[in-house]
Amino acid sequence: MSAAPDFPQLAVNGGAPVRREPFPSWPVHDEAEANAVAAVANSGKWWRCAYSDAELEQKHPGQIEGRSRVDVFEERFARAHGARYAVAVTSGTAALEIAIRTAGIEPGDEVITTPYTFIATSQCIMNQLAVPVYTDIDPHSYNMDAAQIEGLITERTRAILPVHFSGNLCDMQAIGAIAKKHDLVVIEDAAHAHGVELDGRQYAGTFGDMGCFSFQESKNVATGEGGMLLTNDERYYELAFSLHHLGRLPGELWYKHFHQGWNYRMNEFTAAVGIVQLGRLFEQNAQRMENYDYLMPALADLPGIAPCRDFPGITRHSHHLQMLRYDAEAAGGLSRDDLIAALNAEGIPCLAGYTFPNYANPFMNSEETRSRFAAAGITLPDYDAHAERCPHTERACYEEAVWLEHRLLLGDRRDMDDIIAAFAKVLG
Ligand SMILES: Cc1ncc(COP(=O)(O)O)c(C=O)c1O
Repeated sequence: MSAAPDFPQLAVNGGAPVRREPFPSWPVHDEAEANAVAAVANSGKWWRCAYSDAELEQKHPGQIEGRSRVDVFEERFARAHGARYAVAVTSGTAALEIAIRTAGIEPGDEVITTPYTFIATSQCIMNQLAVPVYTDIDPHSYNMDAAQIEGLITERTRAILPVHFSGNLCDMQAIGAIAKKHDLVVIEDAAHAHGVELDGRQYAGTFGDMGCFSFQESKNVATGEGGMLLTNDERYYELAFSLHHLGRLPGELWYKHFHQGWNYRMNEFTAAVGIVQLGRLFEQNAQRMENYDYLMPALADLPGIAPCRDFPGITRHSHHLQMLRYDAEAAGGLSRDDLIAALNAEGIPCLAGYTFPNYANPFMNSEETRSRFAAAGITLPDYDAHAERCPHTERACYEEAVWLEHRLLLGDRRDMDDIIAAFAKVLG
């Protein structure tokens, strides 16, 4: 440890750690998930198409036996978020890919999004040979800075793709108003925002035209891999459903394909686990909120630590990540990476998060990528020049962000006190 204070008491310098026991592990599971998977195995119906049209159409809300689990999961996930339609797919990335195509985004179109996100947010745009255009992030929330959107709109702009990073809502009212004024589609990346509610009435994933969720193992609803697209628009639903099913249409011949699509169908095992996990979501989120409200004020009192600000009016939060902004200077010079190493040594799992802004990943400016776009007559922006335009994103990635995972918030008060004690020991 170079920059860490040279206190022998610190675990990183050989002292006793604050904590040796592990924090709650994720995903939380018990015999309910195991039984759900076994029931699918024993049914011999492992994909949704094993169920006849009659069975698929027979809706018995609340009932699982005799029904496609994928169908039930869609129904319950949509209902839990107040959405009319859901399409269950193989990943959050697949949900985003489908949303981009369903929105009619074409090669050369521009989609305004955030650079502080997982790479799937940008790749789903680029896989359609469309061009991501980045706002900087708001330095306090780490979400896209909605005030920058209008200045980036050109005649090629077709959509806005906000990401509710860490489960914190973007300013959907502002984004919706801009979209309406400029006739743009809004696709929400809600991969971190399961069950996140605004003002007691509307959920993440339902503010825009389509909302995309991930069930990859780290997410608040975890199935290993998996995703869901929500929409209230019947035409979007019909096209999204068809695209995830290789362009088939309901009631038509099996080998007749009306759209160029993919096989992104969720299987019955995944959905069976998803149904059980969804049943745990709101209680777990409530526990996360309670622990968050205890933990964050205590951490905010320490030198150099400022929690990211939540959008006002969030009544249910997922706290998929607990985001801290760290100011090394205010903390006496200890670098962010040394802080994380010292906390890890004290038994507190935390990490620096995204290594690069999306625009700085190697493929963004590679010869391979540029020539693929050039073959379609499209010139990509110089993404290397984005560092100057996005100073807050740069700072978050390279100096400031500290991520704590949501599983830590599933612990008890003693667990929270250990986190506080470790931060205080390193920074105090
Ligand atoms: C913000 C964000 N968007 C999209 C995705 C993609 O989801 P998946 O991993 O299920 O493809 C993720 C997953 O890590 C994510 O964090």
